[in-house]
Amino acid sequence: MRITGPGIWGPPRDQAAARALLRRAVDLGVQLIDTADAYGPGVSEELIAEALFPYNGLLIATKGGYERTGPSGESATGELTGWTPNGRPDHLRSACEASLRRLRLDRIDLYQLHTPDPSVPYAESIGTLDALRSEGKIRHIGVSNVTPEQLAAARTITDIATVQNRLNLTNGNWHDMLTECELHETGFIPYRPLRAWDGPAHQQVLTAAASRHSANTSQIALAWLLAVSPVTLPIPGTATPAHLEDNLAAAALQLEQDEIHAITTAASTATQPVTQATRAHHPPIDKCRRRAPESRMRTPRHRQCRIPAGCAGRAQIASFGGGEMVPWRC
Ligand SMILES: NC(=O)c1ccc[n+]([C@@H]2O[C@H](COP(=O)([O-])OP(=O)(O)OC[C@H]3O[C@@H](n4cnc5c(N)ncnc54)[C@H](OP(=O)(O)O)[C@@H]3O)[C@@H](O)[C@H]2O)c1
Repeated sequence: MRITGPGIWGPPRDQAAARALLRRAVDLGVQLIDTADAYGPGVSEELIAEALFPYNGLLIATKGGYERTGPSGESATGELTGWTPNGRPDHLRSACEASLRRLRLDRIDLYQLHTPDPSVPYAESIGTLDALRSEGKIRHIGVSNVTPEQLAAARTITDIATVQNRLNLTNGNWHDMLTECELHETGFIPYRPLRAWDGPAHQQVLTAAASRHSANTSQIALAWLLAVSPVTLPIPGTATPAHLEDNLAAAALQLEQDEIHAITTAASTATQPVTQATRAHHPPIDKCRRRAPESRMRTPRHRQCRIPAGCAGRAQIASFGGGEMVPWRC
């Protein structure tokens, strides 16, 4: 089920079921919930507060920086419609305050800039979040949909706790960003972690591991993300309670090193032949991994991102369709 209406717009058809699903996720061990003001808009944050306030130790993350103009759609030229970036300081300030009210919080544990706004200098948007943190309204700052250059620029202004970027397997960008996040112990939140594998070439490598582990391919995709780096925080979306349970169970799967390597290779090469030039630019992941202490490899379940500080230990992975709610493990 989804916790907003179709197109991530308006309320879900069955709000009681949405609240029940949120509570179920927490009952299953989820410790951190991520949402955005744009989901609904406002609907997802309100449902989370209705279902889970006073949170009892749960960490709530949200995002600002988009305005909604209608349900998600696609223009004739393939552009996303219904979402307009707004990274102006006055908008971010009022968006953050509205999220605080809807979530019934004094401070948001992780506030992410949902997207850079091409019409606003990135430093101005990030600087506003930094000011909100100084005022005590934000605990940690995250960014989303960023290039390495934008991430570097943000880091000159303030500490960046997480990067939420798309897991797009048609290029090596995810790999570059993961490496960058590992170097800084920044949480890497690869969104669309399941849909990324839709192509048959990608599915094939997951199927091989799935049969060995008596699991489904979605579970293998999630287990791989958890194993491939100590800083990944996968956020699978689901519309069904059964898939929620499946996805949480993926956290217990232990892939072998050769399986991790095979899946990583497929994720890096299956849709784009690797030339000598791209290989130099995107070294195989096991080469990067050697930079990390060996102990990290042996404890992939221990997320080594620096935030959220109170989120060590048992945690789960899950997310609700259309990006409405995203608990992660850390
Ligand atoms: N920061 C951003 O700009 C941004 C943009 C887009 C998305 N996101 C985030 O990324 C999250 C995930 O993205 P997403 O939902 O678009 O893509 P996704 O997680 O890659 O895939 C979701 C799809 O996989 C299916 N699925 C989930 N669990 C499954 C299972 N165990 N077995 C079989 N199928 C399963 C879902 O179907 P069912 O519904 O039937 O389970 C749904 O069709 C969102 O929740 C959102 O928070 C962030």
